[in-house]
Amino acid sequence: MSSAALALEGVAGKFAAEAISQDSQGDRNAAITSYQRAIDALIKLIQLFPDNTLNAVYEQHCKQYKKRITELQLSFDNPQNDNNHANASIHANSNQTTSNSNLENMIMKEKPNVNWKEVIGLEEVKTALRESIVYPAKKPELFTLGWPRGILLYGPPGCGKTMLAAATASEINGYFINVDAASMMSKWLGDAEKNVSQLFHMARDSSKKENVPVIMLIDEVDSLLGNSQNENGGEIRVKNQFLTEMDGVNDKGKNLQTYVIAATNKPWKLDWAFLRRFSKRIYIPLPSLETRESLFLSYLSKLKKDSSVDASQLAQLIDGYSASDIRDICQSVQLSVIDEFFSLAESRGNKDLTHVQLRDVTMDDFKKTIKKRRPSVNPGMIQEYSNWTKDFSAA
Ligand SMILES: Nc1ncnc2c1ncn2[C@@H]1O[C@H](COP(=O)(O)OP(=O)(O)OP(=O)(O)O)[C@@H](O)[C@H]1O
Ligand SMILES: [Mg+2]
Repeated sequence: MSSAALALEGVAGKFAAEAISQDSQGDRNAAITSYQRAIDALIKLIQLFPDNTLNAVYEQHCKQYKKRITELQLSFDNPQNDNNHANASIHANSNQTTSNSNLENMIMKEKPNVNWKEVIGLEEVKTALRESIVYPAKKPELFTLGWPRGILLYGPPGCGKTMLAAATASEINGYFINVDAASMMSKWLGDAEKNVSQLFHMARDSSKKENVPVIMLIDEVDSLLGNSQNENGGEIRVKNQFLTEMDGVNDKGKNLQTYVIAATNKPWKLDWAFLRRFSKRIYIPLPSLETRESLFLSYLSKLKKDSSVDASQLAQLIDGYSASDIRDICQSVQLSVIDEFFSLAESRGNKDLTHVQLRDVTMDDFKKTIKKRRPSVNPGMIQEYSNWTKDFSAA
């Protein structure tokens, strides 16, 4: 998938996650708006990339969100029908078929085409992933003492956790099952406990039947565990089910090529029972100076720019920014010159856009954009990661 498609998918995912969380808190108006935004992003994605193999999945998501919007609108008229207020318990006997199709909507099983080389920087992390997944997948017989099946990637948002997991799956030519734990926990999607067990079942099945390695990425894994101070019965059951399934992967599943990568921005929410099952724990930090420069070079190569634009100077200006911040800065600089292009054409009454030139991007454009944009991660958070790393990292 191209990086533009991935970015748009990310936007849709963010709105969907927001919608689901608002929905489970009973905030119907906000949920409706967020579901609609998720639908809009997915439709745009389908229109811009008509050949994308995942379009059928996106269409299903759209259908599901539309259905939920209708249900929410109906529940305004008839509050008794609202089966989804904040404390609705998880339905233990929910219909198996519904739950299956819900599950299929939540996950994406694909052979990803994110290339290892597209992940810029993070060399040590790539080495760690090679050692713990790529080599065992290629030559399991060398690993007479076994190898870790559970890997935790933690760190600030937008630094490549999802990308790395996809690239690892593509490197070993395996399936990539991407699950968003926050959606799995959402009550209206059905029985979360059953979802967990079906998910692992599906991963094992794919690996067994098709004889390919399967990498399961569980994003936002902390939301599976809830907040231990006020976990309700449902949350405790989901967590225990997850731990049991992980034991299966680490133990019974020894002959299968199933790997579970869990990703989180909040590792401190994970408890010891969970951490024990993820014996490899890898920090994905903010990009270093050198990586920031490489990121700029990669985005700048696709921009029409003048000679004032200097990647190394830009890299120094944005200490503390994430990789996706850098991508957003480059995108927003490009958008501003495109805006100018259209305004100029319009002011000249030039509807067919001939005789108007897109001007080169300059270093000043970058400086202006950077001034208006704070990093998405604050230094306090980085300190927290570093403290947690001291106590719990296991590379
Ligand atoms: N190391 C990197 N190399 C190249 N691009 C990157 C890198 N890290 C992030 N990006 C860009 O940022 C986007 C978001 O990255 P990704 O989804 O992997 O972040 P993440 O760490 O999983 O974030 P989150 O914690 O929010 O899920 C990617 O689609 C890509 O465009
Ligand atoms: Mg991610």
